[in-house]
Amino acid sequence: MSTPARCEPVVRRLRDTPDDVRLLGEAYERLYRPQFPDPNERESLDNILDSLRRGGVGDDRYYVAVAEDASGPAGGALGLVIADFLSGPRAGMIEFVVVDPAARRLGLGSRLLDWVERQASDDCRSVGLGPLLALCAELEDPLLVAAAGGQDPVARAAWWSRRGFRALDFPYVQPALSTSQRPVRHLLLMVRTDRADMRACAAPGWVASLVIEYARFAMRRDEPERDPTVAGMLAWLGERSAVGWVPLEPYRGLSHGVG
Ligand SMILES: CC(C)(COP(=O)(O)OP(=O)(O)OC[C@H]1O[C@@H](n2cnc3c(N)ncnc32)[C@H](O)[C@@H]1OP(=O)(O)O)[C@@H](O)C(=O)NCCC(=O)NCCS
Repeated sequence: MSTPARCEPVVRRLRDTPDDVRLLGEAYERLYRPQFPDPNERESLDNILDSLRRGGVGDDRYYVAVAEDASGPAGGALGLVIADFLSGPRAGMIEFVVVDPAARRLGLGSRLLDWVERQASDDCRSVGLGPLLALCAELEDPLLVAAAGGQDPVARAAWWSRRGFRALDFPYVQPALSTSQRPVRHLLLMVRTDRADMRACAAPGWVASLVIEYARFAMRRDEPERDPTVAGMLAWLGERSAVGWVPLEPYRGLSHGVG
């Protein structure tokens, strides 16, 4: 879609209303689906709609938000973010964020991240848990994924790095999104935090809580610890006293030159 000449973007949380469900369906096809050609990484629209309807489980919350032009609703979403607040690890988790190619480099991606962080912070405080500890996200590992569809994984890693994210030095595997999908092994788990006690490393117990609660909430596992993918990560964490950080900046030297 073309970006309106006088674009005044705002971020708006979608709700389970007919208009918002229609907007989400359109944004899913136009923005989300082309970004996830690998069917193992792609969440179904039905699952997203189901989570939107539930809104949350216990203290955990599900967010679907769009960036759109405040001057008129006609053009559809300029950007879309799906994210969670996970009360166990007191973390926000970005499931994915995408901005219309015609509306990139206007600050919308950054705004969507900041919106999730604010929302998760508010929810963390309002359920009585105090400050949010971190904002997290998955990233295709630039060492394992080639440039495709005009997207350079190195440039993408640099984008997250400039927004304060570091990867956990940890063999993360995304559990299968459904019984017909496979675990995804080429992802890094990234974290942005200003906690002094997480500057040098993260506690394995906190990482374990993140992995378990993400699988429980976003991947709908009733007993995440029994999932073989989760169990493998917990076994690895159980043998560590600390999980270090991998800066995302050095990947820059590997750039494939695609922006
Ligand atoms: C990654 C992605 C979400 C970034 O979205 P975006 O809206 O272009 O992001 P921003 O505009 O916030 O930042 C992009 C750059 O534009 C710059 N920028 C922001 N506002 C600007 C403006 N008004 N004028 C010019 N440049 C601007 C930012 O400084 C930033 O540059 P930097 O990274 O060198 O600091 C987008 O490229 C995308 O959808 N990619 C495909 C999906 C994807 O990879 N998602 C992430 C994994 S789920």
